[in-house]
Amino acid sequence: MARRTRTPRSSAPRSAPSVARPPTDRRRSSSRLAPLALAVAVLAGTAAITSCASGSAVPSDPKLAQGQEVFNTNCVACHGSGGGGGTGPRLIGVGDRMTEDQEIAKITDGVSGTAMPAWGSRLSAEEIAAVTAYTRSLTAPS
Ligand code: HEC
Repeated sequence: MARRTRTPRSSAPRSAPSVARPPTDRRRSSSRLAPLALAVAVLAGTAAITSCASGSAVPSDPKLAQGQEVFNTNCVACHGSGGGGGTGPRLIGVGDRMTEDQEIAKITDGVSGTAMPAWGSRLSAEEIAAVTAYTRSLTAPS
């Protein structure tokens, strides 16, 4: 019964082109695959972006989320995305180098003679506490 639904057509066209088509046609048929390849690439890219986004997602802790916002507005230009470093030092692991109070003092007062500005006059104490907590929460991307 089921065999009846299989028509001979299902196998016939597959073998035909390789014999009948000239090389130019083959080239065209491979370029017809390009949109498909593109679609696959886009899907793969979307998956990659989605997984990236979850890596740098807004922290669920509201203080860390605020700190991330302060960081991305004021600090990222020098200290790099995710605190990875740039003109300013890498802040991943800053918690191993100084206490929270020391870091707050450094951010508040800046480091004179360097590019590190004093943020005490530009950010509220709450914002400084939040960005300090955020930088201390940073870990290297895996
Ligand atoms: C214009 C560039 C610049 C900006 C903007 C900047 N920093 Fe810095 N930051 C530096 C530099 C340069 C140093 C290194 C100073 C030194 O030589 O001790 C530094 C040092 C630091 C340190 C001490 C790190 C260590 O290991 O000694 C912390 C913490 C820090 N910055 C936090 C911040 C935060 C938080 C912000 C945003 C509110 C910020 N910085 C914005 C340039 C910058």
